[in-house]
Amino acid sequence: MLSSDINELLTRVGPGTPMGNMMRRYWIPALLSWELETDGDPVRTRLLGEDLIAFRDTSGRVGVLDEYCPHRLTSLWLGRNEHDGIRCVYHGWKFDVTGQCVDQMNEPNSFSEKVKTTSYPAVDRGGVIWVYMGPPESQPIDPDFEWTQVPESYRSVTKVIEDCNWLQALEGGIDTSHAPVMHRALRENPAHPGIPVGGPFVKGDAPDLHVEVTDYGYRYFGVRKLGDDEQYVRGYHYVIPWTQIRPGGPGRDSQTNGHYWVPIDDGHCIVWNFYYDYDHPLSENAPDAQDTGNTFGVDVDIKTFRSFRNRSNDWLIDRQVQRTDTFTGILGVNTQDRAAQELMGPIVDRSREHLGPADKAIITARQLLQKGVNAVMDGGHAPGTQRSLGNLRSADAVLPLTTDWHDELVSRMDPDAN
Ligand code: FES
Ligand SMILES: [Fe+2]
Repeated sequence: MLSSDINELLTRVGPGTPMGNMMRRYWIPALLSWELETDGDPVRTRLLGEDLIAFRDTSGRVGVLDEYCPHRLTSLWLGRNEHDGIRCVYHGWKFDVTGQCVDQMNEPNSFSEKVKTTSYPAVDRGGVIWVYMGPPESQPIDPDFEWTQVPESYRSVTKVIEDCNWLQALEGGIDTSHAPVMHRALRENPAHPGIPVGGPFVKGDAPDLHVEVTDYGYRYFGVRKLGDDEQYVRGYHYVIPWTQIRPGGPGRDSQTNGHYWVPIDDGHCIVWNFYYDYDHPLSENAPDAQDTGNTFGVDVDIKTFRSFRNRSNDWLIDRQVQRTDTFTGILGVNTQDRAAQELMGPIVDRSREHLGPADKAIITARQLLQKGVNAVMDGGHAPGTQRSLGNLRSADAVLPLTTDWHDELVSRMDPDAN
């Protein structure tokens, strides 16, 4: 369980909150690059409780500004993306990507040089626009996760809105003990895809969990004994505050996937889903589209980024499928996650929980988040912001019981680890 005070500390992310201050020290995945066309329509986005407007100007630069025009505060979303700036349609004030006002149509004697609106730095990496909302002097190196560096055809990136607090969604992702339970299939060739009945993830005993704290978060290992001779070991990285890098699954050695659970505000988050192969284009061995529940056009509306199966239609749960084919009767592994997390309510009351040893990863993440918040409050750096994260991969393997699984997995997951 968690006290109400700590729960508030970890879940509230608006401007001026302790967690919001820490999160503003990281690059935030904000938009897919294709959402912003040169001189195209501006796009509204909301991050950490702040309403923002994004546009790509004539020169290809990305501007991310306070949504509300500093004159009399109508939305710049109504605006015109004109030559190298966005012009508010109310009285014609125009702003460049730095937030500087460069023209005022309603003022005979312009004072535009005195007006500057809030603007956040943005970079385009891996087909994603990342935004930095913190103090300029603390801006970290550009995001360099491995998936942002592979050729475009080697990766897939999607996003979907989830209607609950970011921490609920994160905790669902780093809690691997639910996966072989909630996501399992009940028979061969089920009506909906699920974790196979005969696979090592379901077949093994409940895992021994190992959580190793690092300077950016932790490495996690779940070790399952398989019969008398083998073990299945699955490792992932948790990167503070909202990132998980996890293995592609048994038999997909060169593949890694993962998520970013980014707060829109206290009651909503956006879940980024990335999947990549560092060795091949994805078309050669892409996973089934409906494994995840995150495929654009199939599971997720590409304009609103909302799931077609959602709370308003009970995630289209099929009770007959639940009886015979899969544990939940809901189509899509991550749709199942969203159903469980959204039904907890916008911010779950963690003082009512009963945690056990299988919740070790969640307990450690909460402790690390608190430490990170305290480090920033004390004038220090946010964890992991002073280093490259480009070498981190995940790994899983079926190994003989006699093999040292730790060294084997760490050498694959972080070649620089000592
Ligand atoms: S409100 Fe934008 S120019 Fe007046
Ligand atoms: Fe899950």
